[in-house]
Amino acid sequence: MTTHASTLPPLDTSRVATIEKFGAKITPLDPVGAEVEGIDLSSEEGPPVEVVEALEREMAERGFLVFRNDQQLEVDDFLRVSRWWGGKELHSTHGVHPATPGGNPHIFRLSNDSRHGIPGVGPQWHNDGSFNTSTFSHAGYHIIRPPEKGGGTYFAHQGAAYDALPEDRKEFWSRLSSVNSGSGVVHPLVHVHPVSGRRSIWLHLGMTGAVIEKLPNEAGFRLLNADELRQLCREYNDILNAGLDNGYAIAFEYQENDCVFIDNLAVAHRAAPEAHLPVEEQGLRIMHRSTVRGVQDLAPGFGLPLQLNIRGASPFGDGVWHGGGVGFRWDDRARMQN
Ligand SMILES: [Fe+2]
Repeated sequence: MTTHASTLPPLDTSRVATIEKFGAKITPLDPVGAEVEGIDLSSEEGPPVEVVEALEREMAERGFLVFRNDQQLEVDDFLRVSRWWGGKELHSTHGVHPATPGGNPHIFRLSNDSRHGIPGVGPQWHNDGSFNTSTFSHAGYHIIRPPEKGGGTYFAHQGAAYDALPEDRKEFWSRLSSVNSGSGVVHPLVHVHPVSGRRSIWLHLGMTGAVIEKLPNEAGFRLLNADELRQLCREYNDILNAGLDNGYAIAFEYQENDCVFIDNLAVAHRAAPEAHLPVEEQGLRIMHRSTVRGVQDLAPGFGLPLQLNIRGASPFGDGVWHGGGVGFRWDDRARMQN
């Protein structure tokens, strides 16, 4: 397997200078993401606004930042740093596992052992909070215990993935909108990222109940049928997986004390398959996730509403219209869980 050079732009030199002037250091990861050192995340004060802005801009361009820490962060520190980004407040919609420290409602505690956290979450490519009109702007992944034998998170840059699509798919996908199987919230399959300005693809492979096509050259809409939706999901899965070989996706492994923040509109993610292997095989894995309120609605085009009744009758005639659960099953063998 050959690994091609990153297809992402290099770090912006003026933003690097802003970060270095503060005494910190940012280094690109190959081929996506960037590593940040020299910022004390446990400090109440935090960096000046221009440093946070520079970090947030780089997060949009590179997809995610990993903060390397000398010691384990406290829950409150992790949540405070989460609020540096995007909508600047936490938006927590998940269940709280009994092992969560202090029962903190803003921590989504994940593990490969159900006594320690919620198991099995997120095996397919997705973005967090796609059941919200505004999704989440950012999410934090704080590794509490990295498993000895690995099991991290895959990240794929959705702007670079759009660029890698064949031209006919760019045109077709730009006329599509997905409907969330749980909430009926509608999102465009292609959107312009609010910070980077890059055209980016977006689809939840474990929570999509329908995909609406705006008809070319005429008014009106139709639903994709089962064969078409299956093909779309497979192509979406393939184009993100292709980033692992083509310079826009990474199989990221956490080091002790790592704290990762992602721009949730710039990168899709999924748990590495090893992340869900039993403790006896991989070692114990525990992670805390935080989620940050979206800044603006990820609104569909073509006059479509922000939300439809996915549990009612289809307003677009025949085709897949599947409310509830994990939505449309595009691969009988694929594990799906949210
Ligand atoms: Fe996720």
